Amino acid sequence: MTSQPSAIVLYEVKEQAAWITLNRPEKLNALNRATMVQLVQAVERGVGDAAVRVLVITGAGEKAFVAGADIKEMSTLNAAEAQEFSRFLQQSLDRLERSPKPVVAAVNGFALGGGCELAMACHVRLAAENARFGQPEVNLGLIPGAGGTQRLPRIVGRGTALDLILSGRMIDAAEAHRIGLVNQVFPAADLKAGAAKYAGSLASKSSMALGRALEAVVAGEEISQSEALRLEAGMFGLCFATEDMREGTRAFLEKREPSFPGR
Ligand code: CAA
Repeated sequence: MTSQPSAIVLYEVKEQAAWITLNRPEKLNALNRATMVQLVQAVERGVGDAAVRVLVITGAGEKAFVAGADIKEMSTLNAAEAQEFSRFLQQSLDRLERSPKPVVAAVNGFALGGGCELAMACHVRLAAENARFGQPEVNLGLIPGAGGTQRLPRIVGRGTALDLILSGRMIDAAEAHRIGLVNQVFPAADLKAGAAKYAGSLASKSSMALGRALEAVVAGEEISQSEALRLEAGMFGLCFATEDMREGTRAFLEKREPSFPGR
């Protein structure tokens, strides 16, 4: 199913993956409020769609994944409005990160500011060789406000995160891969196929197990280690109440490939 071509966010299901495309290429897919609202709606549509097992987020056009929050829309905000906008962006990305289905970012160009923050809220980041990452907000006299000060240090470590946030410099896909910001890099022409293959491999796994693993990692990061270990044990236990777990273990013992029912 495809959305109207004029929509700011496109939604299309292909082989159990919901492809969500940010579609303002003339503004390098910059995130304004309307785009963010539609993005969250598309994510919730994918989460609620029984035919979907994985979500893939990408940008329209050749140049950009997302070049940041919309600077024009932001430029007139006062301090209170900016704080509210930041909370709105943060809460929108939190909903994406808490998706029980894996969300893969297919970064096809610039991922700057809010674009890098969106990619970091995704569970896995795949990038084209020509992708560029950065938190350039200091160059505008502001700071990352969509989770960048928190997610970047958690992904790449505090020293590297501070280097990127304080310098505002842009890095290429190879450097992003080296510091652990990106999981895999593809020639630009192969990114879509690479992301489809990756999404397909996740779709063939136990959706019950993937959902429990995501919850243990994502929710576990917000609590103490001892509480998180209890959460992990709870999620581990829940797996044993699923048909997926019975099928996975039986298939191993019968020396065949599992076919997970997703229950
Ligand atoms: N917001 C609004 N419009 C943007 C934009 C953004 N973040 N990034 C690009 N655009 C617009 C440009 O204004 C331009 O529009 P017009 O044709 O109407 O002038 C169009 O997209 C094409 O952009 P450029 O002509 O600048 O393209 P370029 O190839 O010369 O440069 C670029 C590409 C280096 C990415 C440059 O566009 C750029 O630096 N963009 C801004 C990057 C940035 O600072 N992002 C952080 C935003 S702040 C933020 O995100 C805060 C937060 O944490 C929530």
